Amino acid sequence: MIISIPKEITKDEKRVAATPETVRKLKALGAEVYVESMAGGLSGFDDAAFANAGAKICVNPRDVYENADLVLKVNAPLNEELELIKKGAIIIAHFNTLQNKESLAYLAQKDLTCLAMDLIPRISRAQSMDVLSSQSNLAGYRAVIEGVYQLRRAVPFMITAAGTISPAKVLVLGAGVAGLQAIATAKRLGAQVFASDVRAAAKEQVESLGAKFLAVDMKENLESAGGYAKEASQEYQQRQKELVTQQLSQTDIAITTALIPGKKAPILITREMLKNMPDGAVVVDLASANGGNVEGVKDGEISYIHGVKVIGYSHAVNDVAQTASELFARNLFNLVAAFWDKDSLAFVPKTDDEICNAICIVEHGVLR
Ligand code: NAI
Repeated sequence: MIISIPKEITKDEKRVAATPETVRKLKALGAEVYVESMAGGLSGFDDAAFANAGAKICVNPRDVYENADLVLKVNAPLNEELELIKKGAIIIAHFNTLQNKESLAYLAQKDLTCLAMDLIPRISRAQSMDVLSSQSNLAGYRAVIEGVYQLRRAVPFMITAAGTISPAKVLVLGAGVAGLQAIATAKRLGAQVFASDVRAAAKEQVESLGAKFLAVDMKENLESAGGYAKEASQEYQQRQKELVTQQLSQTDIAITTALIPGKKAPILITREMLKNMPDGAVVVDLASANGGNVEGVKDGEISYIHGVKVIGYSHAVNDVAQTASELFARNLFNLVAAFWDKDSLAFVPKTDDEICNAICIVEHGVLR
C-alpha cells in the first residue's frame, strides 16, 4: 500500500500529517510512504529528515496523489487536490464535518472513501486517535502564551526591592480540553486563575488545577451523553453574563474556548461587557472560527474593542506547528495501525467497527 503525505495548501496551514517518526512507523508496518517536497517545511521537518526515515520525496504533487492508496492529510482536500487523486483511494483528514455538513457532497466521487478524524468517538480505545483533544490541548497552551505576550504587565507575584507586584488575573471560559490546559499553563506562569463552564463536572477538574471555579447558581443539566455541552437556557445565560461581567472587571487576560458541537459558539462576552475590563486587558478567543465567544471578534485578527485587545485566535495550533504536527501525525498513525491488515499489508477500515463507522463520511464514492 502506498501512503501519501501531501503538502497542505489550505490558507495559513503550517501543519503536516506525518513526521519522520510516523513515516518510520508506517514503513515498519509494511507501507510505502510518499511525501511531497516541503510538506513539513513550515512545521520544522525538512525533506532530508523524511527521506532518512524512508519516505520517497515527490517534487510534483501529481506523483503524491496519483500513486496513493491512502492519503493522510491535516485538512479536507480542496477540489484541485481531488482532481489529482486516484480512483478508489482512501483519504483520512480533519474534515470539520459538523460545520461543513452542507458542503461535503464534492467528496462523493471517484469511488473515494473519506474518514474524518474530527468524528473519532470519545471512547477509551480511540483516545490515542483523538485529534480534537491533541490539538485543543496545544491551542489552550498557546492561547495563554499569546495572551501573556500581548499583555503589557508581568504575570507572576514578585517581591522586588522596588516593591511588590501582584499576580495577573486570568479568566478561562470553557473548561474542556483547551480550557484545562490554559488553566494549567496560566498557573505555571504564576497567574491567579478563575474559570467557568456549563458542565458541572468541570468544577472538580478546574479546582484540581488550583483555579477558582465560578459557578452559575442553577440546577440545569448542560452536559450531553457524549460529555459535550448543550445550549443553555435564556435564564442561565443571563445569570452567567452577570457572573462573568463582575469577574471581567478584575481580569487581565480572558481566554475563551466554549464550543457546542455543530452549533455557532455561544457569545459569552458582549461588547458592553468588555467596557468593564481594566486598561490594557487582553482577550484571546479560541472559538473565533466558529463565530467566537466574544461579540465583535474577527477570526485571525487583533481588534481593539473599548480599549481591550481582542484576538481571534483559532489558528493557535499553527503557532506551535511542530508539536501540533507531531501529535496529529501520531493520532493518524494510531488509526492506521489499528486497522492495518498484516496479511495484505494494507489499511482496511471495517465499517462494522464502532470507530470506523463513526468516522466514515464517504464510503466508496457514496456520502453516508
Ligand atoms: P468543546 O471543545 O466542545 O467545548 C469546550 C468547552 O466549552 C466544554 O468544556 C464545554 O462544556 C464548554 N462550554 C460550552 N458552552 C459553554 C458556555 N455557554 N459557557 C461556558 N462553557 C461552555 O469540548 P472539549 O474540550 O472537546 O471537551 C468536552 C468534554 O469531553 C470534556 O468533558 C472532556 O473532558 C471530554 N473529553 C473526553 C475524552 C474521552 O473520553 N476520550 C477526550 C477528550 C475530551
